[in-house]
Amino acid sequence: MLGDSKFKIFLDLINNANKDELIWMNGYLNGVVLRSVAPSTVPALNTTPAVNKITIVYGTETGNSKRLAADFASKAKQLHINAKVIGMDQYRLTDLPKEEYLLAVISTQGEGEPPLAAKKFYDHIHHNGFTLNKLKYSVLALGDTSYPLYCKTGEEVDEQLNKLGGVRIAPLQKCDVEYEDDANSWFNNVLQQLSATKEEIPTIEVPVAVAKKTGKQKYTGKILSIINLNDKGSNKETLHIEMEADGVEYQCGDSIGIVPENPAMIINEIIELSGADANKKIVFKNETVTVYELLKSKINVIYLTERLVKQYAEIVGQEIPATRMNLVDLLKIYPVTDAAQFESIIIKMNPISPRLYTIASSPAAHAGEIHILVVKDEYVVDGETRIGLCSGYVGELQTESHQNFFVQPNKRFRLPAQDKDIIMVGPGTGIAAFRSFLAERDATGAIGRNWLFFGEQHFATDFLYQTEIQNWYETGVLTKVNLAFSRDQKEKIYVRHKMLQHAEELYQWLEGGGYFFVCGKKDPMGIDVEKTLLQIIAEQGKKTNEEARKYLEQMEEEGRFEKDVY
Ligand SMILES: Cc1cc2nc3c(=O)[nH]c(=O)nc-3n(C[C@H](O)[C@H](O)[C@H](O)COP(=O)(O)O)c2cc1C
Repeated sequence: MLGDSKFKIFLDLINNANKDELIWMNGYLNGVVLRSVAPSTVPALNTTPAVNKITIVYGTETGNSKRLAADFASKAKQLHINAKVIGMDQYRLTDLPKEEYLLAVISTQGEGEPPLAAKKFYDHIHHNGFTLNKLKYSVLALGDTSYPLYCKTGEEVDEQLNKLGGVRIAPLQKCDVEYEDDANSWFNNVLQQLSATKEEIPTIEVPVAVAKKTGKQKYTGKILSIINLNDKGSNKETLHIEMEADGVEYQCGDSIGIVPENPAMIINEIIELSGADANKKIVFKNETVTVYELLKSKINVIYLTERLVKQYAEIVGQEIPATRMNLVDLLKIYPVTDAAQFESIIIKMNPISPRLYTIASSPAAHAGEIHILVVKDEYVVDGETRIGLCSGYVGELQTESHQNFFVQPNKRFRLPAQDKDIIMVGPGTGIAAFRSFLAERDATGAIGRNWLFFGEQHFATDFLYQTEIQNWYETGVLTKVNLAFSRDQKEKIYVRHKMLQHAEELYQWLEGGGYFFVCGKKDPMGIDVEKTLLQIIAEQGKKTNEEARKYLEQMEEEGRFEKDVY
């Protein structure tokens, strides 16, 4: 098959490789070959699969892992493999030792943590104390290379299942935000393995992570203006921030990622409590920095994970409850003995994760600029008001200063063709995405109708982008606007109430091929809006709940029901 010269290079390569490298090359080539087959189709297998029953478990926060798991199950079924697909929160953990073929699709959230719905499963397998002698498995890890702990949960689940006695049938596959191709080639690889006879199924000794890292281009933007959109007397502070960002490409619906720095007050408190020398040089993840720099811009010192608190407890030799805590509080309650002990703790800590903000500007309307909307995130712990790390950091930014960021594309949350109708539900900071959509549609003269639902606490102080919204309504860019100010009357009124008031017309827009978008807080707003939409579809379309769900699923498949909720 290979010409003489290529064959010589090939032989040179394999003759000089050690065992691990050969296994890696084997896995890599397998992936390359499978990727060259049309990735989203069911692969043609040489033999009927010998395995006829598999379980696919997924752990998801925003639905990607679930979508993939469901897609894999339907492909497996076409090959007459009985594939049970189940969320990790629903999975009966006592079934695990009986499991023969298990595929796990799991994302990483927070700071390298499992999704909430996968925590029980994750904790269970980490408690050891049992073996999984029958288990053959493979893990698909979803993640994002912008996060310092890329696909950490998937890596841990893969490793732990192996420790418990499970045998890998295909190597761990890590996937970045554009996960489709890697995910499909992983599943095709799994299917190929299952098509061998049971005895022939190879066991993978070394987890080969063929990770396609897309990497994110970093940009620096100059802050042009920062305006608090709430008026005096409001309970909120919502900052509209404009950045000069020449040459940065993005589309409406995308977000930007910002890595915040820890506030000076907290850094100083930590230094004082630990007795550390702020100027001492220290190595963190192969980089030499001063203790001060490390505390300022490298490590997260807020709301440490349970795992880190446990490590802290081991180092200081004290009993600390399994809970999440700030480094400052740990140092106050369970002090370190000296600066050296402190240094051994901080080099183990997690890097600061970026925070994502939906872009509020449009490339057509705001050339060379990027706008975002950031609400000051205040919460009370033990009677003390605290401010979210990134919103606090952004709140301190000064005009003319420079800020690093990257663009996080959101391919699913896109304006449809210019003649399509769109319904946008975006209370609070959810309005950011729709300011971007409306500005773009205005600037490009799109002819589709636009309907906005916006909500906040008070009309007088919290009507974000009021002038622009009113202007778009007056000029006809906005066909309909419905506002819900929850605290302007005795009973609370939210966007979902407004949707119900206009149920008949809303359903007509959907029936006419309209697109429905929701952006903003996931809980409770995003969840309530989806429930209300289902109710409207059922009542207006005279459908059963099941039929309404199918209708919405169909819209989702057609890209006509999209969420950007957080
Ligand atoms: C708040 C947040 C934190 C995240 N943290 C990480 C992380 O630490 N490491 C990582 O690789 N990906 C991280 N991600 C990216 C997700 O894993 C990625 O978006 C994935 O596709 C989500 O899959 P899911 O919808 O199944 O949850 C994070 C995403 C969000 C929204």
